[in-house]
Amino acid sequence: MHLTGIADLTDADLHFLLNLSQYYSALVGQDADIPQRLKGRTQVNLFLENSTRTNVSFELAGKKLGADVLVLPVAASSVHKGEKLRDTSQTLAAMGADVMIVRNKDHGTAQFVADALGQSNIPSAVVNAGEGIHSHPTQALLDAVTILNALGRTVKDGLEGVTLAICGDIRHSRVAGSNIELLPRLGARLRFVGPAELMPAASAHLQIERFSELRSGLEGANFVMALRMQIERMNDGPSLSGQDFFEHFGITHETLKYAAPGAKVLHPGPMNRGVEIDGGLADDRAHSLILNQVANGVTTRMAVLDALLTEQD
Ligand code: CP
Repeated sequence: MHLTGIADLTDADLHFLLNLSQYYSALVGQDADIPQRLKGRTQVNLFLENSTRTNVSFELAGKKLGADVLVLPVAASSVHKGEKLRDTSQTLAAMGADVMIVRNKDHGTAQFVADALGQSNIPSAVVNAGEGIHSHPTQALLDAVTILNALGRTVKDGLEGVTLAICGDIRHSRVAGSNIELLPRLGARLRFVGPAELMPAASAHLQIERFSELRSGLEGANFVMALRMQIERMNDGPSLSGQDFFEHFGITHETLKYAAPGAKVLHPGPMNRGVEIDGGLADDRAHSLILNQVANGVTTRMAVLDALLTEQD
């Protein structure tokens, strides 16, 4: 079994993963003993694109569950001698990887690796750890858990009556891509807020309301997700300076007041302080859930690894 995208998951799978994630979140929060459910299993992280949060949290998640974890040092690997992804992934899997965590700039990489392993009859699971501008399923899972936990809700309670404004560079965001697929399935209402050139294509996501002005876009929102300009994924560079972006779309203590009372801010990271979010707001844990997202990144990835690698009781 693999996790290549949110669309892979049935509602039962989705609820199971989110429940398990809340279970691990509570267990780690209580400093309780973690069942060593992955003892004797091997996890390999194959990150062909830079990462801090996802790479480290998958490593910690595997180790907390007792797995042997190898993070391939890509810069020192034969990837830089021109080895093809197919050969690298088959090689790592043939060494005994039970699960491979894959990040790459190209859409479809996790499925490509899963197919390559399948063709060689190697039964490793594959997890998409972020690919291209399209998908980052474990980020969406951890975002959902962060919102549920902030509201004190269970997965069964869902997110009915909750509005999330996604602000900034939605067009180049794989985080937005997976959240758009996941959060409405729990009942949340989404909105897009940002300049026209950073919105998804006009024909995409027609059910989601769009706002080109921050005040109206935030009005009544319970959660605000700030997204950075993902300049490395733009063909022609940014059309707005960081200063202009902050002036029109920056999330600050002041602009957060446009949202519903008690609204909380999220950011998947890495963040650019003073561009899409004010540093003082990011650090203010009365209003910011950013470090909750980071912590839930570990426990949600524990849930994903557990679900993929063990027989469920
Ligand atoms: N949110 C996220 O994917 O961060 P990293 O790129 O640091 O993994």
